[in-house]
Amino acid sequence: MKTTFSIIKADVGGWPGHVYVHPDLKEIANKKLTEARKSGLLKDFHVTNCGDDLELIMTHTNGEDSKEVHSLAWDTFCEATEKAKELGLYGAGQDLLKDAFSGNIKGMGPGIAEMEFTERKAEPIVAFMMDKTEPGAFNFPIFKIFADPFNTAGLIIDPNLHDGFVFEVWDIQEHKHVFMETPEEMYGLLALIGAKSRFVIKRVFPKKSSKLPSDEPVSAISTEKLYQIAGEYVGKDDPAGVVRAQSGLPALGEVLEGFSLGHLVSGWMRGSHNGPLMPVSVGQAKCTRFDGPPRVIALGFQLKNGKLTEPVDLFDDPAFDRTRVEAQHIMDYMRRHGPFEPHRLPMADMEYTTLPKVMKKLGSRFEKTK
Ligand code: F6R
Ligand code: MG
Ligand code: MG
Repeated sequence: MKTTFSIIKADVGGWPGHVYVHPDLKEIANKKLTEARKSGLLKDFHVTNCGDDLELIMTHTNGEDSKEVHSLAWDTFCEATEKAKELGLYGAGQDLLKDAFSGNIKGMGPGIAEMEFTERKAEPIVAFMMDKTEPGAFNFPIFKIFADPFNTAGLIIDPNLHDGFVFEVWDIQEHKHVFMETPEEMYGLLALIGAKSRFVIKRVFPKKSSKLPSDEPVSAISTEKLYQIAGEYVGKDDPAGVVRAQSGLPALGEVLEGFSLGHLVSGWMRGSHNGPLMPVSVGQAKCTRFDGPPRVIALGFQLKNGKLTEPVDLFDDPAFDRTRVEAQHIMDYMRRHGPFEPHRLPMADMEYTTLPKVMKKLGSRFEKTK
């Protein structure tokens, strides 16, 4: 029997502004998912938040794109939106871009990272959730984890990892995907995923030579871009991802090491600025300064027959203090650039923000140069 691990997330109201999720919304999610576990639809779940994003971490046996599970998530977000409206929370229902559920939550606003796989004897699994950034923010750490031997020692010294992995990369502008193998195609892969606003890693698979089934993902990332659904900037595409670890896969510490740089990502303040991604504990995922800086949290579980252990808050660790302090230095440095690129995103990436409206106002004053 295979298990499906699904993270479905949405911003359905901030407390205050775009900072955090109100506990009443999490209470609604806990109540809805408890009922679903009782009814047998879910095997297990955990509700959390990363900044202003409500995160539903769920396990079940219905496979990816399950109508029942997606509809449960949609109904949960709708109920939480009602509460957000009642409390006067900010941007109530922000990420729910469609009025009625039509069988699959994809393309409706919420972000989805899900994968179905055969559980190993012991299955360590990490849910990563980000706020104030975009799906491409996962490219750097996922590459480091599964393809960079300076990050993942196992790629060199564990014969089970030595052959490398297969990356599924999506072109989110042209709606195409490609599978690329590392280490053989590493340079080509980097040529794509370095352009993280367009090419995003969707899944990682073991190779055919692996002991693990080569058609079952070992990592999956949400790739929803809200502006592509709504046609304009309506909020952030704050992504989530899931990574399995150990026994022929990167060790848990190699997985977390991928986040030790505090690498630069876009999506900070008004979805329009670059800044460092700061790994923090769940309680510290409150996007305050300049609506940020962008955050990532990590919850680690052991999974058995679809049941989850209590999570461990993995970035709640002084070993990440240096990364956080460095991210703060970088934050100050970037902030001092104010409205100048590369703190502000390049014009092409600003297309779906409010900037074109400002440009339009100025447009009539331009005259041809000689
Ligand atoms: C939203 C976000 C924020 C907002 C900003 C302006 O996820 O990250 O930076 O873009 O606070 O919000 P509005 O236009 O709602 O006042
Ligand atoms: Mg928000
Ligand atoms: Mg958010």
